Amino acid sequence: MTPIILDMDPGIDDAVALSIALTNSAIDIKLLTSVAGNVSVDKTTTNLLKLTTFFKQPQLPVARGAAAPLKKAFADASYIHGASGMPGYEFPEITAKPLTTDAVSAMAKVLSEAPEPMTIVATGSYTNIALLIQTHPDLLKKIKEFVLMGGSLSGGNVSSVAEFNVFTDPDAASIVFKSGVPIVMIGLDVTLKALLSLETIDAVADIGEAGNMLHKLMTAYGDSEPGGKPMHDVNTICYLLKPEFYTTKDYWIDIITDGPAAGATIADTQNRWSNGKTNTKVAINIDANAFEKWFVAQIPVMNHY
Ligand code: BDR
Ligand code: CA
Repeated sequence: MTPIILDMDPGIDDAVALSIALTNSAIDIKLLTSVAGNVSVDKTTTNLLKLTTFFKQPQLPVARGAAAPLKKAFADASYIHGASGMPGYEFPEITAKPLTTDAVSAMAKVLSEAPEPMTIVATGSYTNIALLIQTHPDLLKKIKEFVLMGGSLSGGNVSSVAEFNVFTDPDAASIVFKSGVPIVMIGLDVTLKALLSLETIDAVADIGEAGNMLHKLMTAYGDSEPGGKPMHDVNTICYLLKPEFYTTKDYWIDIITDGPAAGATIADTQNRWSNGKTNTKVAINIDANAFEKWFVAQIPVMNHY
């Protein structure tokens, strides 16, 4: 079992990723933390609790994180994810409660008590993680790696160069990429290839109540490409379980924090300024067919919860 801390902003693709992580026996979620992103942090926290309740894991610790980026004004993506962040399905009444401690304190506690360094997976902006790095530098040695959905070497989705999670809080992203902790960057270079076709999304509806729930959320999801819908955040969980689906390349990545290119992730592809050093394993290609098949195979298992 891979023990992880999962930091999210659900958000429909976050919700799909979490549904897999909560129910796949190879993943051991030690802590769930929320961050403002697709919708406000009140809503992302509620959405995490909706899912831990749905999958009958109300004991799983959920901690509320940052309500806004470090410096920038907060702007949500409710135009993609709906006003609630998880529209289209009537979830059962929440039986879980959030921790009384905030996300950063909760992360620090879990890391300091962990016997081995742990992986932190982030599928929202990286505000909580940046705050953790700033306030608990002593705990960097307890972080094995960051597996991040975000960034792109091939154009953005909120500007010509910036991907949403990095764009939302580029100052946080800059702190994370400079932290010295190994990073896996699962960005638009692969997530825009890992599409779920509309046929697949329809077929999922008949795979029990979990399939019905995911079908309704994915149908309401506003992100769409020719050929299907990109479930960006699901790729972080898929990468943990099936790294062989992904081709990666090591680069030095810098974050642009200001100006028209704010939120861009720049790779030193020609070794001009990084002196041969790298800080990030960037996913540059994916076996999209294997991803889609793997995704569908996850759903029957979810119904055992
Ligand atoms: C990322 O932005 C969010 O809207 C999605 O949840 C995903 O994490 C894709 O750019
Ligand atoms: Ca997300």
